[in-house]
Amino acid sequence: MKNVLVTGVNGQIGSELSDLLEAKYNVDKVVGLDIRPSLPPYKRAHEIVDITKKEAFRHVLEKHQIDTIFHLASILSAVGEKNPDQAWDINMTGLKNVLDLVRGTAIKVFWPSSIAVFGPNSPKMNTPQDTILGPTTMYGITKNAGELLCNYYFDKFDVDVRSVRYPGIISYKTEPGGGTTDYAVEIFYEAIKHKVYTCFVTSQTCLPMMYMEDALHAAAEVMFADKAQIGVRTSYNLAAVSFTAEELAEEIKKHIPDFHCNFVPDFRQKIAESWPRVIDDSVARKEWAWQHKYDLAAITEDMLTQLKKKIKLN
Ligand code: SER
Repeated sequence: MKNVLVTGVNGQIGSELSDLLEAKYNVDKVVGLDIRPSLPPYKRAHEIVDITKKEAFRHVLEKHQIDTIFHLASILSAVGEKNPDQAWDINMTGLKNVLDLVRGTAIKVFWPSSIAVFGPNSPKMNTPQDTILGPTTMYGITKNAGELLCNYYFDKFDVDVRSVRYPGIISYKTEPGGGTTDYAVEIFYEAIKHKVYTCFVTSQTCLPMMYMEDALHAAAEVMFADKAQIGVRTSYNLAAVSFTAEELAEEIKKHIPDFHCNFVPDFRQKIAESWPRVIDDSVARKEWAWQHKYDLAAITEDMLTQLKKKIKLN
């Protein structure tokens, strides 16, 4: 892994992945790609490209001699429900362009799937690696189809594409862009700024979540694993912690005792209810030694510490 391209580099994960790849994984060059200009203080090469435009994408791969792509550009679940056509186009055409362009080359691809690949009929507790999927959001449908497409390109064309099903990701650097799990990030900003938050899912809504540092390490580690270790070519279940919205609010209260959380569910409640509560990720743990570091207490403590610094700076 020498010359890496990160698509969706302005997004929640993309904006943090480049630093980690250079700092901890000795990647020589990271090139960012996004439909928008780079976010300051991003100083690396940055290409403004629409991922649905295959030839522009091809040009970037050739220009920078890319050998690994982290294809993160995507429309998330809540935004996808407002514009399903756009979600299909960006998520599916974007992924197919990547897979087509790397066919017959040695370029490796990381592509994130999600807990959204599961649906109302999937087991909610300890959701196994192989089980009923049946997603009901357009985002989840694109993840389901995308997983099958990745597996197909691996089987038919030997494309080395690897994937994990991310849970909700909690981070402080860049805010998430329109997912159902965004309440688990927004709550921290509002707790610090106003000591009150109106949560858009019910207090008892329980979803799998993960701290950004763990999510980034998962992406890097699955990509650095030996090819022989990767037995799943659709996407690996990946988990860290699961908690209810109320448990999260209570954990924040340990640090901000006068914080108050109201629960007023909106359309995202139905999406949250269709997803698993607790994921079984034992296959990833066994095959490429996946391990998470942050539990709810550690996430809360670090989020509050980092966000207090960030909000004061603004
Ligand atoms: N965080 C994503 C979302 O809520 C799930 O992958 O859409």
